[in-house]
Amino acid sequence: MNIRQLLDQRVSSAFISIGASKDVSAVIKQSSKAQFGQYQVNGVMGAAKKLKMNPRQFATQVVDVLDLSDIADKVEIAGPGFLNIHLKPEWLAWQLELALNSDTLNIDKIKTPQTVVIDYSGPNLAKEMHVGHLRSTIIGDAIVRVLRFIGYKVIPQNHVGDWGTQFGMLLAQMNDLQSSDNELSMQLSDLETFYRDAKKRFDAEPDFAETARAYVVKLQAGDPNCLLLWQQFIDISLQHCEDVYERLNVLLTRNDVMPESAYNDDLPQVVADLDSMGLLTEDQGAQCVFLEEFKAKNGKILPAIVQKSNGGYLYATTDLAALRYRHNKLHADRILYFVDARQSLHLNQVFTIAKKAHFVPAEMQLEHMAFGTMMGKNGKPFATRDGGTVKLIDLLKEAEQRAFDLVNEKNPDLDKEERKAVAKTVGIGAVKYADLSKNRSSDYIFNWDTMLSFEGNTAPYLQYAYARIQSIFRKAGEFEHNATLNLVEMPEKQLAIKLLQLSEAIEVVSKDGTPNILCNYLFELAGNFMTFYEACPILKADKEIKNSRLKLAKLTAKTLKTGLDLLGIKTLERM
Ligand code: ARG
Repeated sequence: MNIRQLLDQRVSSAFISIGASKDVSAVIKQSSKAQFGQYQVNGVMGAAKKLKMNPRQFATQVVDVLDLSDIADKVEIAGPGFLNIHLKPEWLAWQLELALNSDTLNIDKIKTPQTVVIDYSGPNLAKEMHVGHLRSTIIGDAIVRVLRFIGYKVIPQNHVGDWGTQFGMLLAQMNDLQSSDNELSMQLSDLETFYRDAKKRFDAEPDFAETARAYVVKLQAGDPNCLLLWQQFIDISLQHCEDVYERLNVLLTRNDVMPESAYNDDLPQVVADLDSMGLLTEDQGAQCVFLEEFKAKNGKILPAIVQKSNGGYLYATTDLAALRYRHNKLHADRILYFVDARQSLHLNQVFTIAKKAHFVPAEMQLEHMAFGTMMGKNGKPFATRDGGTVKLIDLLKEAEQRAFDLVNEKNPDLDKEERKAVAKTVGIGAVKYADLSKNRSSDYIFNWDTMLSFEGNTAPYLQYAYARIQSIFRKAGEFEHNATLNLVEMPEKQLAIKLLQLSEAIEVVSKDGTPNILCNYLFELAGNFMTFYEACPILKADKEIKNSRLKLAKLTAKTLKTGLDLLGIKTLERM
């Protein structure tokens, strides 16, 4: 239980004992100013209103029955009926000790862990991953790490697009080049160009287009040679994705890939089942689901098409099949989709249809964790100068190069290998953090200069804060681990309470899928540490004080490292 939860429990039962109903919330918030203590109870006014009591009077009664003597030394009534809770420094110190002596910072595991499927990354394999795949990949990955950390059973699902008509022209192109094996693997080393060349021929050469269309038919009919060629392409394309994942320090592996094609066999059944549930309507030869819930501005219902007039299936059909699989085979309680906000209609239709058709139980939590677009400086979606798509791998290489230039400038004495390693960690960390720290649902402007800055809410700032603490320990040498931790000065207390609030940040992130809350927490923690470090000398202090402060520093480093790790960002011992 974190402090907020502990206080919530205690204050809520005080509320109930003076007559409030069980569903009234105590509304415990972290205090914004140190003079108001560390926590604030904001629920008094609401509870008093329901009981038709004067809020100050209700507050007085709460203070009378509330016993926080083990953890707080003062509970004051403020304003119209707020309660300010001042926690005991000794109790805080004891909590810090528990965190120091635990591998997981004494953060509790969830009591009834659900099985959570996390759908993220999901690139289309016909082309190479581009910058549009960055957000889903890294936000989803951070949430995987956070939920696992607190004990959920997490099943990542990489819903890659590996099926559809584009593969016809790719196979036709492969077939032409296949005569010389060498050439083929060379060509496929740049999928982007390969795709473009195939597309050019498809548009310009009627014969080629004909062959391409024949390939689609053969592929769908399960022609073995065709499947072999297709599999070869998919393998290479997945290898490209894995290179990106590795560079990005993203956990996804081939085991997490559950491609669209895996659902092919179930698609006719999905349509048949929708039909038997009475959900299908034929419209211009296509099979559609019309639901009142989804209307355009003009009042017309927006149908979800599940089968085209030529018999082909669609994105929605595959997603419905995937939902069945996630329920029947993976036994998911909750599914989080980290998918571009522009797909919100699609996903909401799929969720609603799946429930109406009883493909998944009504209580299953289906959440579209939508995100906005990454923009260039010009305010348009991030692209090359001539408006082309930017390959994700190229963006990451550029990040490493820019970070390398920076390290060369700041720390030319480091040997070259180490400078390279630092640049990798800082460059990739910067790109990831710049994204993760933004409000997920809005668009944001990609800016190299701010993300690589050592000041402000950036990865380099946090990585540097961590490395700086490590350097204190290199100077301090060994210290007394059984020394007493004493919280005396205000900056010490401020740092202490912040250290104990990681769990509260994680609580929000796990509910809302918002890594920016964790980023903010870490940024504030680093700020609290800097204030403490300036105001409270560590190495020059007397032995007892020095040991106590070293403990605070140790736990700060541990918390920064854990927090960055949950974001998928690496730390450095020196930089
Ligand atoms: N392949 C899709 C795209 O690139 C993303 C897949 C998202 N996941 C899903 N279950 N639909 O837009």
